[in-house]
Amino acid sequence: MNFQLTEEHLAVQAAAREFAQTELLPGVIERDEHQKFPAEQIKKMGELGFLGMMVDPKYGGGGMDTISYVLAMEEISKVDASASVVMSVNNSLVCWGLENFGTEEQKQKYLTRLATGEIIGAFCLSEPEAGSDATSQRTTAEDKGDYYLLNGTKNWITNGSTASVYLVIAQTYPEKGHRGINALIVERDMEGFEVGLKENKLGIRGSDTHSLMFSDVKVPKENRIGEDGFGFKFAMQTLAGGRIGIASQALGIASGAMELALKYAKERKAFGVEIAKHQAIQFKLADMATNIEAARLLCLQAAYDKDEHRDYGKSGAMAKLFASKVAMETTVEAVQIHGGYGFVKEYHVERLMRDAKITQIYEGTSEIQKIVISRELLK
Ligand code: CAA
Ligand code: FAD
Repeated sequence: MNFQLTEEHLAVQAAAREFAQTELLPGVIERDEHQKFPAEQIKKMGELGFLGMMVDPKYGGGGMDTISYVLAMEEISKVDASASVVMSVNNSLVCWGLENFGTEEQKQKYLTRLATGEIIGAFCLSEPEAGSDATSQRTTAEDKGDYYLLNGTKNWITNGSTASVYLVIAQTYPEKGHRGINALIVERDMEGFEVGLKENKLGIRGSDTHSLMFSDVKVPKENRIGEDGFGFKFAMQTLAGGRIGIASQALGIASGAMELALKYAKERKAFGVEIAKHQAIQFKLADMATNIEAARLLCLQAAYDKDEHRDYGKSGAMAKLFASKVAMETTVEAVQIHGGYGFVKEYHVERLMRDAKITQIYEGTSEIQKIVISRELLK
């Protein structure tokens, strides 16, 4: 067993750290406060190759492994989880889904531009009545011969108003249940497609979350991903990898909060000494560091499983379940270590605490991860 990162891994990690510190940190508080999408920063992330990291270079991607992706996600998420969710959706849901299940024409037409960040994508599974219970799709894609007629509403869609390409899951044959579902590529300017209001959120406020409405949108047949009725499996297989991205986001939020808490504990004085000299603070730091290390190992294990073409459904779900819990616990304690200063925006930890919560909800809630893990155990 070798826990050593390669020189390439270390270089990617350093590049992501540098980018996060120099390009994302300035303005992150204002973007959060005003719910401002980090448009310029996302453009630069595309130019630096962070939006199509694992895509084959022949389609404009970085050709990197999942471990590199986890390392980069952690560094970006330490500073700005609103930017890292854009990165996660584009890399592990949209690009990965298209690269692994799309036709050559779809890859040439969409993936090449998504992988370079020229455009960004969205992944549209959730609906007002179908969140965790994802097979209950109400959006319909009626087969009309050479096109599908798409009708329905998706909600909570990340990159909702900023994406150019949307991977939309919809029901074609209700009588077949989940085996009647299709995945379609919808372009932003297709007639009948409308972006709804932006959600006003607790955390990841710089990200762009919208409902989407489809009203008689004609989607050409060549925009279907995979075989007829493959849409639900497409969503599940894609989400299995997506969960590694969100686990790494949670890891980054936790390690970002820990770094701030450690620094603050060495600076702040109470009762004549730095608060880091009080054992209560030392023990909090020890717990944080131990949990973060365990979360990191789970993320790297899941990434390694994926890179080695082993089953990563369970390890990815475990990584997400655990890392998101660690993100929540660590950020709460980081605020505590900061005392009253932790409660105000300038010290960053309150934002990280608000951002942490979403990692227990999206790409499958913690309860859903437990369903995925226990089903594997009981198989
Ligand atoms: N790979 C391939 N196929 C899979 C699969 C996987 N990982 N998981 C399930 N399937 C298949 C099953 O084999 C089954 O097919 P067959 O009947 O042909 O064998 C089919 O899918 C249905 O599976 P289940 O019977 O297990 O379905 P279920 O109704 O019990 O639900 C679930 C399973 C795991 C709970 C699933 O509904 C789920 O993952 N829910 C959570 C949805 C979710 O994660 N949404 C995230 C939206 S995207 C997002 O959130 C992005 C973001 O925020 C940034
Ligand atoms: P529900 O499914 O209604 O769950 C409510 C509660 O019941 C949860 O605690 C849940 O764990 C629990 N529960 C439900 N079923 C069970 C069960 N069988 N056993 C035990 N407990 C259960 N979706 C997309 O498709 N694309 C996106 O880009 C996207 N981005 C998002 C961004 C944000 C900011 C948010 C908030 C959500 C986003 N989502 C996205 C949606 C997200 O994936 C769903 O919110 C999530 O899957 C949960 O669905 P729900 O909100 O309908 O909750």
